[in-house]
Amino acid sequence: MADKQATLSYRDKSIDLPVLEGSVGPEVIDIRKLYAQTGAFTYDPGYKSTGSCESALTYIDGDEGILLHRGYPIGQLAEQSSFMEVSYLLLNGELPSKSQLDEFTHTISRHTMVHEQLATFYRGFRRDAHPMAIMCGVVGALSAFYHDSADISDPEQRKIASHRLVAKMPTIAAMAYKYSVGQPFLYPDNSLSYTGNFLRMTFGVPAEPYEVVPAVEKAMDRIFILHADHEQNASTSTVRLAGSSGANPFACIAAGIACLWGPAHGGANEAALNMLREIGTPDKIPHYIERAKDKNDPFRLMGFGHRVYKNYDPRATVMQQTVREVFDALKVNDPLFETALRLEELALKDDYFIEKKLFPNVDFYSGVILSAIGFPTTMFTALFALARTVGWVAQWNEMISDPAQVIGRPRQLYTGPTQRDYVPIDQR
Ligand code: CMC
Repeated sequence: MADKQATLSYRDKSIDLPVLEGSVGPEVIDIRKLYAQTGAFTYDPGYKSTGSCESALTYIDGDEGILLHRGYPIGQLAEQSSFMEVSYLLLNGELPSKSQLDEFTHTISRHTMVHEQLATFYRGFRRDAHPMAIMCGVVGALSAFYHDSADISDPEQRKIASHRLVAKMPTIAAMAYKYSVGQPFLYPDNSLSYTGNFLRMTFGVPAEPYEVVPAVEKAMDRIFILHADHEQNASTSTVRLAGSSGANPFACIAAGIACLWGPAHGGANEAALNMLREIGTPDKIPHYIERAKDKNDPFRLMGFGHRVYKNYDPRATVMQQTVREVFDALKVNDPLFETALRLEELALKDDYFIEKKLFPNVDFYSGVILSAIGFPTTMFTALFALARTVGWVAQWNEMISDPAQVIGRPRQLYTGPTQRDYVPIDQR
């Protein structure tokens, strides 16, 4: 029995509910037996007050603007680590030794190729198909290639499926890009880093050697780190829910990709850059801020606000610094960055944004960087999916290894008609 209890009075009953404590963060009231004890459900659309699982992966303190991966602050990881190391950390729980990291990187590099037949899937898409539509389809299709992953109760098979997914996502995303621009697919080059290989598969062409620009490689790797995992967000919860039925991991990740695509989630990076382009010059900003505040106007400041962060998103801080590094390395200076900085400055002085605690999130500055590197806006969310895959598989693994894991099955507050008799069509 838990030491602490919460008492709920409901109708003529009073029941004690166990209060559980994590290592840090809010306590949770365990309502698992609520229905059995009272006959009532809880009601929480959007899960604003609901913890759906136990997890030891990522911790967010939204009021303080803190994000930890396995305890390590995101700022330190972005500054000092690499995406491969963060991937190892998420999947295994601890930072690797040098030899563990080398072995892990080697293993991932041995899974970067996709089955030759997978290329034929791309040809079924219109050439102007959105890369996220392609990603949903192609990643889901991987499940048809790896029947051995069907035994998800075997930790070894889960590990191999996880490695395959992390390794193949850059190849799949780069192929989606190549298909959209009508260029030939490039095979992976395992002499390059995870991120360098992705850049080459995306921007290289067979006719010419491709030189990875170290500063761009570093910035891209950092962007991957910033997106690696983020607690029980919509797409991660989707992966967990899909996985809770015992579904194939590749299909579960495809479900996560579908959820990520929406503009309220991962699609916001594309929407944020499109918004900055629409705003154009700083003199137009006040007009758009007024529109964002107008309840009758559907316009929102994309890349602003977050369900959990009620303070600056720590990922946005790193992202903003990275913009300048990429501009310096590529000797570019996109005036949209100035527009973004000014928009942030004005919004953060505005009472509406202050009162609602709306701050820039990870997506606010990422588009400016990705665009400078050469990605079209339609690829932005695909890059998010690439990087988030390691978080999704780590969460999926954690869930499957949890003995308390059961199929996710929410209930509802039914408001439809009560039972009535069927009326034959000629009597309606
Ligand atoms: N611009 C203008 N008003 C906003 C914005 C915004 N970007 N975000 C929230 N609000 C207002 C909203 O209208 C609401 O006002 P009121 O209380 O008067 O009805 C209040 O702030 C609370 O917003 P909410 O939509 O109820 O909050 P939520 O937690 O359900 O939504 C959000 C969070 C991220 C969906 C929302 O802030 C949003 O739509 N932001 C723009 C899209 C975006 O940048 N998404 C990326 C999130 S970070 C990356 C990721 O996780 O994928």
